[in-house]
Amino acid sequence: MKDTYIFGIESSCDETSCSIVKNGREEIATVISSQIDIHKNFGGVVPEIASRHHVKNITIVIEECLKKANMKMEEMDAIAVTYGPGLIGSLLVGVEAAKTLSYIYNKPLVPVHHISGHIYANNLVEEMKFPLIALIVSGGHTELVYMRDHYSFEKLGGTLDDAVGECYDKVARVIGVPYPGGPTIDKWSSEGKDTYKLPIPLNDDSYSFSFSGLKSAVINLVHNEEQRGNEIRKKDLTTSFQNTVVEVICKKTMKAIVDKKVKNFIIAGGVAANQCLRNKLKELCEEKNVHCTFPEIKYCTDNAAMIAASGYFAYKLGRIGDLTLNSKSTDTLQ
Ligand code: KG4
Ligand code: ZN
Repeated sequence: MKDTYIFGIESSCDETSCSIVKNGREEIATVISSQIDIHKNFGGVVPEIASRHHVKNITIVIEECLKKANMKMEEMDAIAVTYGPGLIGSLLVGVEAAKTLSYIYNKPLVPVHHISGHIYANNLVEEMKFPLIALIVSGGHTELVYMRDHYSFEKLGGTLDDAVGECYDKVARVIGVPYPGGPTIDKWSSEGKDTYKLPIPLNDDSYSFSFSGLKSAVINLVHNEEQRGNEIRKKDLTTSFQNTVVEVICKKTMKAIVDKKVKNFIIAGGVAANQCLRNKLKELCEEKNVHCTFPEIKYCTDNAAMIAASGYFAYKLGRIGDLTLNSKSTDTLQ
C-alpha cells in the first residue's frame, strides 16, 4: 500500500511547529520553535506578542522541517493544521500558512482540533486500540473522553473552572517559579514532604474537575504565612499540591475506566509529562490489567507531530476542509 505523508502545522499558543508524519505513526521530521523564553518575562503568554512571533517564524519552520526530512512539499498527501481551540491571533498564522500551501501545491487541507492532536500523540508511540479512555490534561483543558473508534469522541466530563496546567502555572507564580511552572513543581515535589493540608477539589463521584478552589487555597496559604513572617517550605508545598492534584485526577480517571469497562487508557497534553501522575496512573492501570500508553515527554506539550498524526486519520475519514477554513478560539472536540 502507498505510504501517506501528512505535513502538520501547529501554532495555537506559543510554539510554532511543523512536522511530517508517515501513515499516522512514523515521525519523519519535526521542528518546534518555542517562545517560552520571551513570555517568561511576562509571567505567561502574551497573545499579541505570540502571534507576532508566529508570523516571524512560520516560513522558517516550514522550510526547516522539509530540509530536515529531505523531502519536498510536492511529496505530501495533505496539509493538516490546528484550527482551534487556542489564541485566535496565533491560530490564524498557522491556518493562513496551511491554506496557502494547500492552494499553491494543490493539496487537501485537513483541519485538526488541538485536543485531538494531543490525543493522537499516543499513536506515535503505538497504534491506539479501542475502546479507550483518554485523559486530557493541559494548560487549557482537563477532560475525560471515551473513544469507541478513531475520531469518535464522547466527553464524559471536564473542568468547571481552571484547567490543571493553568493551576500549576498559577501556583508556581505565587511561589516565584517562572512560567511555565509545571515542570519545576513536578521536580520539586519529588524532593519535598507532604506537610501542608490542602482541600481535595470536587472530591465526588462525577467526572467533573475543579481547580480554582485549590489554587486559591495555595495562594491564601502563601499570603497568610508571609503576613505572619513565616517562611514557606516551597518544596513541601509543591509536594502537597501535586499529591492533591494527582489523587483527584487518578480517582476520576479510574472510575471512568471501570464504568466504561475499557481495557485501554491513554493520557494527553502538557501535564501528561508529569512524572508523579504518569507513575500513579501506570500503577493503577496495572492493578486493573488495563493497557496504558503515554506520549513521549517531548510530544506531551504542543508540537506538530501530533497534529500530523491526528490529521492522517481525519484525512482517511474524508474530513477535508477548504479555503474558507477559519480559526476558532473555542470549539467542541468532535
Ligand atoms: O499542552 P500544552 O503544551 O499547552 C496547552 O495546550 O495548554 O500544556 C502546557 C501546560 C503548562 O501549564 C505547563 O505548566 C504544563 O503543561 N506542564 C506540566 C509539566 N510539563 C508541562 N505540568 C505538570 N508537570 C509537568 N511535568
Ligand atoms: Zn496543547
